[in-house]
Amino acid sequence: METKKYPPYGDDLFTEPANIDADTLRNLGPLTRLAGRWRGVKGVDVNPKADGPRTQGYIETFDLVPLDPQTNGPQLLYGLRYHQHVVKPGELQTYHDQIGYWLWEPATGLLMQTVSIPRGQTLLATGVADRDATRFELRAARGELTNGIVSSPFLDEAFTTTEYCISVTMHDDGSWSYEEDTVLQLRGRSEPFHHTDRNTLTLLSAPVPNVLARGTIRLAGG
Ligand code: HEM
Repeated sequence: METKKYPPYGDDLFTEPANIDADTLRNLGPLTRLAGRWRGVKGVDVNPKADGPRTQGYIETFDLVPLDPQTNGPQLLYGLRYHQHVVKPGELQTYHDQIGYWLWEPATGLLMQTVSIPRGQTLLATGVADRDATRFELRAARGELTNGIVSSPFLDEAFTTTEYCISVTMHDDGSWSYEEDTVLQLRGRSEPFHHTDRNTLTLLSAPVPNVLARGTIRLAGG
């Protein structure tokens, strides 16, 4: 049987790269400018309601925290752990909550975003970007093995999520924007529904370097 190999790695599945740079903030490539705590006040959400699309403004806080470098055998990833918290203007109640990781593989330019939302839904979106890219796009689709979408039984049956696409753009003033298109096939409808979200984020506070870079690890008794 032929063994599939993902470039640029060879036969050795277990040897980790040598001389890993511990400072994640220096190795995030196109994700560099996302690190930190952000606020967006001009969000626009289009969501599905019984009588058609509803458009709603929103406000969000977006935390993106540098992780220690992550290896999968020879594969080296740098990334951010994020929490996105969304409310309607003037409200306290959560309107949308999302957690996950943004990851970048310097050796190939692979970008990954994991998305988990408390509807019972999770996905892995992928894309490719240059180290200094100021715009990039990631996609996931239901049924894919390496960039798939999985939903709870009810959600998958009634609000089948078939595609997800996010594009991120960095702006000259230091802010950044995202545009998302989540495609839903609602039960009983013939046309797919485009559940879209977009916002522009401005910095609230700069990122704290990852634990290893801060050198704050204290071994027990050390
Ligand atoms: C800022 C981002 C987002 C906001 C503000 C948002 C907000 C909403 C709202 C208000 C609804 C309608 C809820 C209801 O009427 O009960 C909805 C429905 C839904 N959203 Fe999102 N959403 C966002 C992102 C996402 C993402 C990234 C996904 C998945 C990839 C997603 C998946 C769904 C699904 C499957 C539904 C249908 C279930 C339902 O209508 O109850 N959403 N969203």
